[in-house]
Amino acid sequence: MSKPNFDSVLAALRTVQDPDLKKDLVTLDMIRDLKVFDDGKVTVRVVLTTPACPLKEKIKQDVIAAITSVTGTTSVDVTMDAEVRKSNHAAGATAAKTLGIPGVTHIIAVSSGKGGVGKSTVSVNLATSLALEGAKVGLLDADIYGPNIPTMMGVTENPKLIKDPVKGEMFIPPTSHGVKVMSMGFLIEGDQPVIWRGPMLHNILNQFCTRVDWGNLDYLILDLPPGTGDVQLSLAQMIPLTGTVLVTTPQEVALQDVRKAFNMWDKVKVPVIGVVENMSYFTGDDQKRYHIFGQGGGEMLAKKFNAKLLAQMPLVALVREGGDEGRPIVVKDAECESATLFRELARKVAQEVAILDSKQNQSAPLDIGKF
Ligand SMILES: Nc1ncnc2c1ncn2[C@@H]1O[C@H](COP(=O)(O)OP(=O)(O)OP(=O)(O)O)[C@@H](O)[C@H]1O
Ligand SMILES: [Mg+2]
Repeated sequence: MSKPNFDSVLAALRTVQDPDLKKDLVTLDMIRDLKVFDDGKVTVRVVLTTPACPLKEKIKQDVIAAITSVTGTTSVDVTMDAEVRKSNHAAGATAAKTLGIPGVTHIIAVSSGKGGVGKSTVSVNLATSLALEGAKVGLLDADIYGPNIPTMMGVTENPKLIKDPVKGEMFIPPTSHGVKVMSMGFLIEGDQPVIWRGPMLHNILNQFCTRVDWGNLDYLILDLPPGTGDVQLSLAQMIPLTGTVLVTTPQEVALQDVRKAFNMWDKVKVPVIGVVENMSYFTGDDQKRYHIFGQGGGEMLAKKFNAKLLAQMPLVALVREGGDEGRPIVVKDAECESATLFRELARKVAQEVAILDSKQNQSAPLDIGKF
């Protein structure tokens, strides 16, 4: 009986496509440590572009099927792994910008035109969900006027200030629910109002970008203050954001503000990863869905701006309670509907980021040395 060899297995793997990136796994450099043994056993490690890949199981099954189809294969052992990648052309990056935050692969801003629509709630649950999927995640509370993230993440420790011999004074962020957290809330006294303007504002944001030692992160989530003002513009100028997730509620006044936000991100050339419609409905004791803030706004907005509607989150008391007590709903009640929807949202965001990145990196050469 004929035995499989390295080339025949590799040829079979060239028939397996990543459905999102629309290329085969060999071309995408996802096939590593391929070993074909004399007894027909095949082992391989498949390196996806995110540990939160929603298609992980499908790709694994496709790989097993492709290898099994090679005549003489007796057994297949596939290990699924992930490496979050970054193209050299981060979206919106210009020579005038700093070259990102050292060690951080993707920076994702959670924004909206309007206040109180759930940006911080989405930020904490998105960050915690990505960490639960196995990614290395940081969360920067860029809402320097009303920092809520330490409370919502249940962080009790302050960041440590260390003296690095090369970088100088650096903050080491505390970790909560597997996420490294940094916030203006750590640096100001309890109930003091914060007034930052012009150069001072730019300076504090710059400190956040350069004076925090994040270590290696796959994703840094930025929770932005509401609006389309100085903070958003300063950050967009300073940091090469991979993209932004726009949060809205379904009603017209929120949508009007989010339209402004769309236009602002377009001007500064930051891609919109997608729209999250929050507080979409409330399920009563009679199991009926009540659309308290109207219906269909998120969908309409996504259509108008040719963006994806990533999620429609229900209004649920437990979500608010989780925020107040520092336990995001994805850890407070991992089995509930809201937690499931936030986990799905996180996988979609990771997926869209990988797609955005691959589009920006169309011409990446195949690293043959990896085989
Ligand atoms: N899906 C939800 N179900 C129930 N409560 C929610 C939901 N989303 C957000 N909330 C609650 O609504 C309030 C506002 O949410 P959040 O602080 O996340 O909004 P925000 O957009 O960050 O506000 P701001 O503009 O002030 O920063 C919070 O009390 C939060 O717990
Ligand atoms: Mg907020």
